[in-house]
Amino acid sequence: MQKKTIRAGIVGAGFSARFHYEAIAKVYGVHVEVVGVYALDTAQAREYAVERGIRAYDSLESLIDDVDIIHCCVLVAGHEQVAVAALERGRYVIVEKPLTGYCGDGSDTFHGDRFPKEIALQRGLESVDRMLAAEAKSKGRILYAENWVYAPSIQREREIIEKTKSQILWIHGEESHSGSHNPTYAYWKFSGGGVMIGKGCHPLTAALYLKRVEGRARDGRPVRPKSVTARTHAITRLENFRDEGHIRRDYYDIDDFSVMHVTFEDDTVATVFASDIVLGGIHNWLEVCANNHRTLCNINPNTALQVYNPLDANFRDVYTVEKIGTKQGWTSMPADEDWFTGYPQEIEAFYRAAAYGEPVESDSRLAADTISTIYSAYVSAERKGAEIKVRVY
Ligand SMILES: NC(=O)c1ccc[n+]([C@@H]2O[C@H](COP(=O)([O-])OP(=O)(O)OC[C@H]3O[C@@H](n4cnc5c(N)ncnc54)[C@H](O)[C@@H]3O)[C@@H](O)[C@H]2O)c1
Repeated sequence: MQKKTIRAGIVGAGFSARFHYEAIAKVYGVHVEVVGVYALDTAQAREYAVERGIRAYDSLESLIDDVDIIHCCVLVAGHEQVAVAALERGRYVIVEKPLTGYCGDGSDTFHGDRFPKEIALQRGLESVDRMLAAEAKSKGRILYAENWVYAPSIQREREIIEKTKSQILWIHGEESHSGSHNPTYAYWKFSGGGVMIGKGCHPLTAALYLKRVEGRARDGRPVRPKSVTARTHAITRLENFRDEGHIRRDYYDIDDFSVMHVTFEDDTVATVFASDIVLGGIHNWLEVCANNHRTLCNINPNTALQVYNPLDANFRDVYTVEKIGTKQGWTSMPADEDWFTGYPQEIEAFYRAAAYGEPVESDSRLAADTISTIYSAYVSAERKGAEIKVRVY
């Protein structure tokens, strides 16, 4: 079969724009021509463009006009604007996680600790509604870049659930590390919340996805979330936090520890932890306890490659694993971190969807359920863990 050519545009030129570009380079089923980049930070966009031999555009619209697919790699506060602009012009749009969010009222006095979380829920869902409406009217589609859905361990679990017609009784999982590197991460106004949305969205979406898979395989109908109870904390902002320099602690108004407990419509459950207070490298795992099997998806760390290094300085030029504090001693060093994390697999699937109409596992409905669950969880946390109903899409 002749490979189709798809022209791509990157919006945003920071951390995620870099790993998207690397994943594009690995797409094998479609010929991808990366045309250009646009970002609010024009100097960063120019540098990104020069490094890759692509064009830096001076407006979002002119980039969209020149391509078939847009990678939305901007801060959460800009997701809706970028995605809707692409959809209105009939383009596909790969939206980084989380789909969208409520990033405050724009005032100088806005503070994540103090505003009523019902507002985040209402405004967050209004944003979701506008994005879904733009998608419904468009020739393009939203492709939701939740890499956990495409992580190979989660996809193997999908196969087990489908073939054995499992009933999942409890999923528990976590994404944690010692603190995000991005300075903007400290502020609710850029990210639409703290760690519960920033990291919690990953294991939560994987859990919502697997319950969908279960329902579809058995009854032809996904099992959806029904309610959530949650707690959030700001541990590194406690006056009595004893800082020894290993954990980031300059957050302005966000949570750095969270737990969400989701009840599904079949009354089974999922428990999702997310935090910025965990040492020892990134901690990304999901465990599925089913009626006929139990699976541990060790996304990162995993034991595919374990390395002992007697002296930190030996590995000065060796990248080991995300967010590790030291390279000395034993390290679980993923043989291919991006592959275990699902980045190339999601981008391959999205290009196949755009080129050949193949179905995607991670779509706007799954993304919408995630946003709805998380902002309902923020309402719950504000009420010290009261159970809150989740609206589903
Ligand atoms: N899937 C993952 O593992 C993962 C990891 C990190 C970040 N992310 C997601 O990627 C997104 C971006 O995060 P990042 O770490 O790349 O941020 P970043 O700060 O490194 O880069 C953001 C870029 O977007 C540009 N930008 C911001 N708002 C814009 C707008 N409205 N229009 C055009 N350009 C705009 C900035 O100029 C900058 O170039 C976030 O949604 C984040 O949640 C996902």
